[in-house]
Amino acid sequence: MDEVKVAILGASGWMGKVHTMAFQTFPHFLGNRYGTAKVAALVSRHPDTAKELSFRAPDAKLFTDWRDAIQDSNIDLIDICLPDNLHYEVAKAALEAGKHVFCEKPLAESAQEARELADLAKAKNLITRVGHAFPRNPVHDLAKKLIDSGEIGEIKLFKGCQHIDVFGDPMAPFMWRADGKLAPTGIVGDTGSHVFSFMDFLVGRVSSLIADNFITAKHRPVVNGAGLGESAVLTGHEDWAEVTNPDGCNILCRFENGARGLVDFSRVATGRKFMQSYEIYGTKGSLVYNYDEINRLRFYSNDDKAGQRGFREIDVGPDHPNYGAFLPLPNFALGYNESKIIEAAEVVRSITQNEAMWPTFEAGHHICAIVDACMESSKNQRWVNLADLG
Ligand SMILES: NC(=O)c1ccc[n+]([C@@H]2O[C@H](COP(=O)([O-])OP(=O)(O)OC[C@H]3O[C@@H](n4cnc5c(N)ncnc54)[C@H](O)[C@@H]3O)[C@@H](O)[C@H]2O)c1
Repeated sequence: MDEVKVAILGASGWMGKVHTMAFQTFPHFLGNRYGTAKVAALVSRHPDTAKELSFRAPDAKLFTDWRDAIQDSNIDLIDICLPDNLHYEVAKAALEAGKHVFCEKPLAESAQEARELADLAKAKNLITRVGHAFPRNPVHDLAKKLIDSGEIGEIKLFKGCQHIDVFGDPMAPFMWRADGKLAPTGIVGDTGSHVFSFMDFLVGRVSSLIADNFITAKHRPVVNGAGLGESAVLTGHEDWAEVTNPDGCNILCRFENGARGLVDFSRVATGRKFMQSYEIYGTKGSLVYNYDEINRLRFYSNDDKAGQRGFREIDVGPDHPNYGAFLPLPNFALGYNESKIIEAAEVVRSITQNEAMWPTFEAGHHICAIVDACMESSKNQRWVNLADLG
């Protein structure tokens, strides 16, 4: 198969827009050596929205029910850009129908559901992918290369965080992400899963953890049409909705390889519009990354000459795989959308070459298990072994 036919589910949302662009755009930058993609169907609940969207992919079929895309024999890949609560049901139906599946994170609402999906995909020999695109910024491929080649020795400590402030203001409007029915694990599955994806990509599997989840404002005004983090003008006549999932979480964890972790994330860090960072300390060196310098890795090595040691700043550039395809000079800021383009290219490559590429549903399952462990640990205020969760 040279051209993968993709159906984008949730096409009118943020990820729907980005995924459509990524599948259409990647050959322009990364070439067509491993095939191309055609956005063959757009799914939006509302017929008018679906029609409005059709300019993005004029040849695409327009559906209002995701089941129709799954039943379409022309479609090879179901791309799930729907709210979290639909991921499991839709991915399961797609796999059962013999479609490859690309699902936005978090893969499912529990490790048990994720396990079922990973097993089903394996039994059906189908390609899977979870939308953890942040680690696909080429700067993290460099970090992985340095780790895998032993440059920082044995990893002893991982520190990671991710914060936004969309709920920093207690009057910030309610959104589906705060509804425990639509997103049962709240910030843990939503944002925590991004930090967990870095842990999975760079450090290894988590064996146990203790977590403390928290909510900062129990009720929030319902303002129809309010966007993420928007400060709404209240009329005083709004309905109020209860926040039923965590706003933030602090974690201590242990990895199977003996490393220790210290992780925090939230949607209430006033002033932090998007903060994401990690520090990885090994026996021979260290790596430090901060999203504010999106293509820069700081690397400290004990192998450097005594008296001249210090963190060196490496700006990822055309010398590093995937960067030069986009930009001919280092430090020109390869951003979030480029990571999604790289991701789309890898999804197509996986399908045309029948080659599993991280993060498959197996990685998605482990990340869901960390989320489950956080929920369980915080509820019962105790350490949780991931192996005990089943
Ligand atoms: N990987 C990342 O960096 C990243 C970033 C943002 C969101 N996400 C994930 O992507 C998913 C979507 O998030 P978003 O920010 O795009 O949300 P969004 O609210 O912008 O979009 C969701 C879309 O799904 C549509 N929808 C809801 N129920 C539907 C149904 N039954 N049938 C058809 N369409 C339906 C909505 O109308 C909306 O257009 C979530 O799981 C989220 O966690 C991932």
